[in-house]
Amino acid sequence: MKRLTLKEIFGLEPDGRDLVVKGWVRTKRETKAAIFLELNDGSRMANLQCVFEVPAPGSALAAGLARAGTGASVSVDGSLVASPASGQKVEVKARALEVIGEAPAESYPLQKKAHSLEFLREVAHLRPRTNTFGAVARVRNRMAYAIHQFFQERGFQYVHTPLITASDAEGAGAMFQVTTLDLDRLARSNEAVDYGKDFFGKPAYLTVSGQLNVETYCQALGRVYTFGPTFRAENSNTTRHLSEFWMIEPEVAFNDLSDNMELAEDFIKYLVRTALADCAEDLAFFDQRIQKGLVEDLAAVLEKPFAHMTYTEAIAQLEKSGETFEFTPSWGTDLQSEHEKYLTEKVVGGPLIVTDYPKEFKSFYMKQNDDGKTVRAMDVLVPRFGEIIGGSEREERLDYLLRRIREMGLNEATYSWYLDLRKFGTTPHSGFGLGFERLLLYVTGMANIRDVIPFPRAPKLADF
Ligand code: 4AD
Ligand code: MG
Repeated sequence: MKRLTLKEIFGLEPDGRDLVVKGWVRTKRETKAAIFLELNDGSRMANLQCVFEVPAPGSALAAGLARAGTGASVSVDGSLVASPASGQKVEVKARALEVIGEAPAESYPLQKKAHSLEFLREVAHLRPRTNTFGAVARVRNRMAYAIHQFFQERGFQYVHTPLITASDAEGAGAMFQVTTLDLDRLARSNEAVDYGKDFFGKPAYLTVSGQLNVETYCQALGRVYTFGPTFRAENSNTTRHLSEFWMIEPEVAFNDLSDNMELAEDFIKYLVRTALADCAEDLAFFDQRIQKGLVEDLAAVLEKPFAHMTYTEAIAQLEKSGETFEFTPSWGTDLQSEHEKYLTEKVVGGPLIVTDYPKEFKSFYMKQNDDGKTVRAMDVLVPRFGEIIGGSEREERLDYLLRRIREMGLNEATYSWYLDLRKFGTTPHSGFGLGFERLLLYVTGMANIRDVIPFPRAPKLADF
């Protein structure tokens, strides 16, 4: 007999068919007339109710049911019947039970009660068994697939960019070093480090972004994207930062900043629309338990165009706001998350694209504006946590790019291959990076980024 998932079973009519279901026990309830096992197999949020007649004392079934506590894995034989209980069309009239793996109540960390998200982070290997983390995992999966669908439907080629690199893609110096040198021995000796003896013959790092590499393919294939893990060694202990996160970076030859903004808006809307359509059960749970009004807010995002503002306008809005911010906004300093929240929540009431930031705190590769002060950058900001996308039109003029690399004191030699793209058939081009976990915060309403990635990496956190 083909074994069906719960998701498949919930799509069937209660036609009395025989079936076998396997999954984990969420709860067990006993009445005088029957014993109820609520099973879940992760294919969707809802549990399948399996109803057993009260077994004869001392029978094999009685012994099995005694061992089938919360968390145990079981196999149930029975037939699919109409459920008298509200909210479910079908249930299993169970005949036989096999306990596959017990989960002793005295040591299983997940009991019937609701657990705090903080506690669940300490049992990260078990938390996908909970409603919240199961739902996050399913939404994460659907969004990953939707990202490929979006780009593939639009003729973009998926490019695999490397994780190990010798160049700092953001020029911000927040990289993890990769080495096979014996650090203990080096620490004991007084020798200077000889990178010629290191694995790659020079200093190497985990990449902060696939952008520079994907630009090389952009300058040949036209429309490309990369989607992979990126690493940042900043000591940011916030609910929005991870040390290892996934990023989606499209790059398009001949696109200018306004094309880039259009692509970003279409992309976010496509993902939100897909989540609403295909993850409705999980989103309804998040709306009820995690972030009230989530579904309505997401639906509203689809209804109107994103707001636009230059950085200079954004600063003016903040200055006249009358709000007291922890960081006083002023032209020439970066927008803080509190400013981004104010602009999106109080000024525009939805996503906002801010453009033309001062060059001082943006990356070396961004196209310089004629004012000599700002660059053609764009950040997409959303309510609740601020930046979800960062991108720009790229500086395609060799002399401008070189000057910026030198001004910023970056190591020119490590970018020689990147500079070549400006020497041979250079084109205007643009792209952006969507933080995958920030997207998940946005569509699930979860508050802490550590709860939307299976195994979070953050300062002092690399367990599991
Ligand atoms: O703004 P960022 O640093 O831009 C880039 O890396 C560019 N190379 C992208 C490009 O133009 N191709 O990062 C892009 C996005 C941010 O908007 C944010 O959503 C996410 O990546 N992000 C982080 N997410 C989690 N933890 C962190 N530490 C993050 N840093 C950036
Ligand atoms: Mg950014």
